[in-house]
Order: sequence, then structure tokens, then C-alpha cells
Amino acid sequence: MDKDGIDLIIDKHQGEAGSLIQVLLEIQSENRWLPKEALERVSERLHVPLTRIQHIATFYKAFSLVPKGRHEIHICMGTACHVRGARRILDTVQDLTGIKPGETDLDLKFSLETVNCLGCCALGPVMEVDGEHHGKMAPARIAAVLQDYE
Ligand code: FES
Repeated sequence: MDKDGIDLIIDKHQGEAGSLIQVLLEIQSENRWLPKEALERVSERLHVPLTRIQHIATFYKAFSLVPKGRHEIHICMGTACHVRGARRILDTVQDLTGIKPGETDLDLKFSLETVNCLGCCALGPVMEVDGEHHGKMAPARIAAVLQDYE
């Protein structure tokens, strides 16, 4: 995301109460993460100290200070999924993508996270990609699912 793109977002929200969070949320949603240069620009334009922005960006889970992939994979490791083989699902995803939970691949295609329950335990083991649930997963099916994401 370039400086003009950031300025556009700031202009849109400037003057609004709580505009800092709105601006950060919009940069996060367009860019998928908050690069340091973006935070510096926001600090300069909104006259908010960089340390305060950094504090907010690290406090809220919605923000990421490291690059995120175009697609977010969540593997459920909750009890219901665990007993149905979630570990093998996670291992297979790690093998196929080359990343571990908390990481993003070099092509910025996938980010991987584990979660404690996706709220659909009867479908376990569950893998979620970009909010879409893939239930009753089997290691052999994972490659076909991931292949659909560019
Ligand atoms: S434990 Fe996996 S969806 Fe609930």
C-alpha cells in the first residue's frame, strides 16, 4: 500500500471521533497488515504519537504488524476436533504450505493459525479458510481444498 492510498483513507476519516482506529482497521483490511511506514504516516497526519499507535496495533487482535497471506487458514485444535485427528490435519497443512502456526509463506499466499473451537464441533476435524468451514477433513483432502485458493 503506497502513501497516497494511506492518505486517501486518512482523508476519508479525518475529523471523526475515534478516527485512528477506523483508519487502522481500513489499512489492515486493504493491506492485510500494518507496515511501519503506514503507521508513521498515520502518526504524522493524525498527530498521534507512534508509540500510542503501536500500542493499539499490538493490543487488538484485529491488527497485524507482520505481513499476512492473501488467505487465512485456521485449524481447530479444540477437544472435539483433536480427538478426531486435528493434529494430522495441522501436520499435513504445515507440510503442504511450509509454514507453522503464526507464520505466513514467502509468496504471501497463506497465513496459518490454530484456534480452540470454530463452533461446529460435530463437523470435526475442521479447517477454515477465509472464514469458510471445511468439515470432516481428512489429510488426503487438504491439497485439493488449498488448490482452490490463488
Ligand atoms: S472443537 Fe473444533 S469446532 Fe469445536
